[in-house]
Amino acid sequence: MTHRLRKFLGTRSGQSLSRTGHTIPRHVAIIMDGNGRWARRRGLPRSAGHYAGMQALRRTIRAAADLGIGFLTLYAFSTENWHRPKEEVDFLLRLPSEFLKTDLPELKMRNVRICFLGSLDELPAHTREAAGAALAETAGNTGMVLSFAVNYGSRSEIVRAVREVVRESLAGRLVLEAISEKTISTYLFTAGIPDPDLLIRPGGEQRLSNFLLWQSAYAEFWFPRVCWPDFGREHLLEAIEVYNKRDRRYGGIKL
Ligand code: FPP
Repeated sequence: MTHRLRKFLGTRSGQSLSRTGHTIPRHVAIIMDGNGRWARRRGLPRSAGHYAGMQALRRTIRAAADLGIGFLTLYAFSTENWHRPKEEVDFLLRLPSEFLKTDLPELKMRNVRICFLGSLDELPAHTREAAGAALAETAGNTGMVLSFAVNYGSRSEIVRAVREVVRESLAGRLVLEAISEKTISTYLFTAGIPDPDLLIRPGGEQRLSNFLLWQSAYAEFWFPRVCWPDFGREHLLEAIEVYNKRDRRYGGIKL
């Protein structure tokens, strides 16, 4: 970590990082991977890895809010994760309510707005209730937007959006020629959230696993080897340093 970045974090005064020369990505998205491997290496059950992953999530949210990141999106449970053993699925789906029970007061104090991406209807009642309360209690907050992708899959999100667009078009409310990229974006779970600038997948795997496929068209990717339960402030800072070295051209050229 550079001295400048360390110094900034030492102050935690909310001053703009641009003064130190680092650009803070507006939207950081994270695929929280490697919980199972982390646990196996320690001779622990997979649930211990997920539980440790929840502590990493807490550290990362705090660091992101301190850094002034505007949008933080975390992949907590994919539409494919239902294929895991029932015991593991039940454990994973208990974590959001457990986390919100302990951390919602701090998140509210930090002016964080909580969102959920994905289809909540199929989730257990306790998860839906905790999500609904968090959404309602933080709806008016103006700080970091923290999105949990739960029962989220990017392909099904796109199918859902296309269905809505077709429905509107058939009802005569949407002219075929007027359908644009922006139209599709407004029907995605992420409507109103800017595309991610930086997508991080710890754990060493280098794939998107059905996460934000449409939204990540021009995201920068970083795949550190560290498993998610060991991830923290230092890694987020390293990610920002990596991001600052990237040359984002969006298909254009530098003149
Ligand atoms: C992938 O690691 C991780 C998950 C499927 C779950 C991620 C969830 C958390 C970190 C906790 C979420 C908490 C809240 C509050 C939303 P893996 O199990 O596939 O790891 P492996 O590839 O090493 O087996």
